[in-house]
Amino acid sequence: MNKVCIDEVSLANKRVLIRVDFNVPLEQGRVTDDTRIRETLSTIRYARHQKARVILCSHLGRPKGKPSPELSLRPVAVRLSALLGEPVGMAEDCVGETVHEAVAKLSAGEVLLLENLRFHPEEEQNGAEFSRALAGLCDVYVNDAFGAAHRAHASTAGITRFVPVAAAGFLLRREVEHLGKLLTAPEHPFVAVLGGAKVSDKIGVLQNLIGKVDTFLLGGAMAYTFLKAVGCSVGSSLVEEDKLAVARETMKAARAAKVAFLPASDHVVAERIQPNPPTRVVDGPEIPEGWMALDIGPKTREAFAVVIRGARTILWNGPMGVFEVPPFHEGTWAIAAAIASSGATSIIGGGDTAAAVTRAGVADKMTHISTGGGASLEFLEGKELPGIAALTDKK
Ligand code: 3PG
Repeated sequence: MNKVCIDEVSLANKRVLIRVDFNVPLEQGRVTDDTRIRETLSTIRYARHQKARVILCSHLGRPKGKPSPELSLRPVAVRLSALLGEPVGMAEDCVGETVHEAVAKLSAGEVLLLENLRFHPEEEQNGAEFSRALAGLCDVYVNDAFGAAHRAHASTAGITRFVPVAAAGFLLRREVEHLGKLLTAPEHPFVAVLGGAKVSDKIGVLQNLIGKVDTFLLGGAMAYTFLKAVGCSVGSSLVEEDKLAVARETMKAARAAKVAFLPASDHVVAERIQPNPPTRVVDGPEIPEGWMALDIGPKTREAFAVVIRGARTILWNGPMGVFEVPPFHEGTWAIAAAIASSGATSIIGGGDTAAAVTRAGVADKMTHISTGGGASLEFLEGKELPGIAALTDKK
């Protein structure tokens, strides 16, 4: 990466503000998935060991610019403290006099978490005054919030205009290196496994990967827009009618670039989404009226596994079926197992796919699981992410 990284900046005794993405799921005031917190530990521990006075800031949820007690970062401070094995202070706000006082009291190696940035509307508006106020809290700014790097907000973009140096944290660097290699220097054969509900979420990635991948494997509900676009009956499967034309164009572009394009060829269908309903396996493209495809079928699982076994690089983004509802997890689990045992470099897109590999019990077999949902998609679409663009270039 051509941006200055945290290990290239002197931190000793400095007030170091680290923008993290602690936008984690909470239930009854407890963190239910701490992956994003754990993934930033290397950066936080490094800053502590360098004797920095560590200030962390993040958003949580979408409180629409107003304080909202259920979106307080307090439970995150508790979890972080348990993971670090050190106390983590919690500030009442993220700017203002009380925050300055709390920062002034920090000793070298101590950690303070600021309250949710999005309690202030100026955060998402990328307001200059708010950016300046955040900058005023620190001597060094570090961005480790890859998951929020696609947002041009005060804490990810605006602040960099008011600090002498804006460095990348280790998580952000890891993400950019792993995802970046997919776009610039993947080992071939390179297979992209794409799924999930909507074509509209993935079409930009599909288009950007044409010419880079050798094979697309398509599952999840998005496959049915592609199948309908070539005249298959898809019953009542989810279809984005307004994406049929773009689906056709994309398949044409893939053909022209000699990229294999393999949508699911058999399907587990049911009349409705509910746990353990009556199901049928439909072989081929004719799904009966009133039935919807909710998972890839056994032949598709095997065919996809064969391609996966021959791959050197695999990108997986989007589950193969409604994996939250049994028995429609089986296709997703089969693909997770095939990728885990492939020996290929395996990069997992964030969000649902990260949850799926964790629930399938193979997360530790993957080369890299992105902490970014929207951010990893935009990165793979080839877009420049504002939170990365704003960092200081290496000389
Ligand atoms: C995410 O969870 O994708 C990031 O934290 C960004 O959150 P946002 O979509 O609310 O900006």
